[in-house]
Amino acid sequence: MTDKATLTLGEARIELPIIIGSEGERAIDIRDLRAQTGHITLDPGFGNTGSCESAITYIDGDAGILRYRGIPIEDFAASPNFGEVAWLLICGSLPTADEYDAFSTDLTRFANLDEGMKHQFEGFPRNAPPMAILSAMINALSCFHPELHELEDEGQFRIASARLISKIRTIAAYAFRHSRGLPYIYPDPNLRYVPNFLHMMFSQPYKQYVCPQMVRDAMNLILILHADHEQNCSTSTVRVVGSSGANLFASCAAGVCALWGPLHGGANVEVLTMLEEIHHGNMTPEDYVKLAKDKDSKVRLMGFGHRVYKNFDPRAKMLGEVAEKILPRLCGNDPLLDIARRLEEIALSDPYFIDRKLYPNVDFYSGILLRAMGIPTNMFTVMFSIGRLPGWIAHWWEQHRGHGQRIARPRQIYTGETQRPYVPIDQR
Ligand code: CMC
Repeated sequence: MTDKATLTLGEARIELPIIIGSEGERAIDIRDLRAQTGHITLDPGFGNTGSCESAITYIDGDAGILRYRGIPIEDFAASPNFGEVAWLLICGSLPTADEYDAFSTDLTRFANLDEGMKHQFEGFPRNAPPMAILSAMINALSCFHPELHELEDEGQFRIASARLISKIRTIAAYAFRHSRGLPYIYPDPNLRYVPNFLHMMFSQPYKQYVCPQMVRDAMNLILILHADHEQNCSTSTVRVVGSSGANLFASCAAGVCALWGPLHGGANVEVLTMLEEIHHGNMTPEDYVKLAKDKDSKVRLMGFGHRVYKNFDPRAKMLGEVAEKILPRLCGNDPLLDIARRLEEIALSDPYFIDRKLYPNVDFYSGILLRAMGIPTNMFTVMFSIGRLPGWIAHWWEQHRGHGQRIARPRQIYTGETQRPYVPIDQR
């Protein structure tokens, strides 16, 4: 196979190198295109643009494959352990027993927030969106750890990562407690990552929340399935912000903001709103699908479609199976699960969705599961953020350590006014 592409532009023939990834993905390297031809490429939404080379996550959207550092996500289902996967993504290989113990210990010892930071929650209105609080507080962490702004050696970076992964769940739980006017519950050093988070969410000063094994496993799996997804909108945001030299905390805070949007992480909230709307009898599943197909309605079938997956989303498949298995045990017959199944059935047999290769994505079932575990709807995207954080950190570090990395600075095709004179206000 050729290792060069040839572009003909008028009389000129330009040779462009082909880059081949470890799974055989091919890219035309256009780094020097503008210098050679005066042309740029135009690709709104970056659907056809590779922004970097990365060794973290592999996706084959047609085959429904998702692998973290080479390991298929299905392999994590038997005994899901989010801490182990976080290490894998960040450090590149599965932790040894000693590495895992040390990392778990760090996740436990860093769980507390500085008391000064705790007081900042009081300044937010009760109805503040938890994603706004999350982003603000992750950024605020950088004020409390200025020593972690300049991360050059591996050891320091791992400390910063553990701090962030540990504290994000404390921030998330405190945001929830604040919104309900409930006292903050301190992390319990005897509990592991997920049970400790649920303890901070749901324990009362007079009554400890006890996390059932089934919930612990399902929550670990949900977090794992959200942990990375290569160059998605929020991860690309983290990379873009990090490319300016911004610190890890500032870059991840920006990632939270990007994830918030309804077309990205915010879709899990929209899915539940949609299911509840149907459940409350405002619409039938058939009506909803009809509306989603009507271009004038601006309504989309939330939790459906993906930029990369054009056959099935393996994360949705796994979560759908977990929902089937644990929902009856957690909350009996959930009518929202029946509605979701019905919507899926209608959409998957409708030419509109078939022709456009639109299938359920990760957000389609995650909300139903989170709801069954007692997580309120407005916290769903926060849960996505907790899950996605190791991915953001891994990408930030990969870029930070990479050679020849440049500040992200796309170009544009200007379509505004051509040169015209300034007219003083009394002559307009
Ligand atoms: N319902 C109805 N029509 C849809 C949907 C949907 N959910 N998704 C895409 N389409 C249509 C779209 O209108 C367009 O139709 P046409 O060709 O006639 O103009 C066609 O399918 C292609 O859509 P697109 O917007 O060009 O596709 P995209 O790759 O830019 O967008 C997406 C991907 C995920 C933003 C989009 O499918 C969507 O908005 N889905 C609903 C929101 C959602 O569930 N988001 C979560 C994504 S998974 C979690 C994550 O990674 O963030």
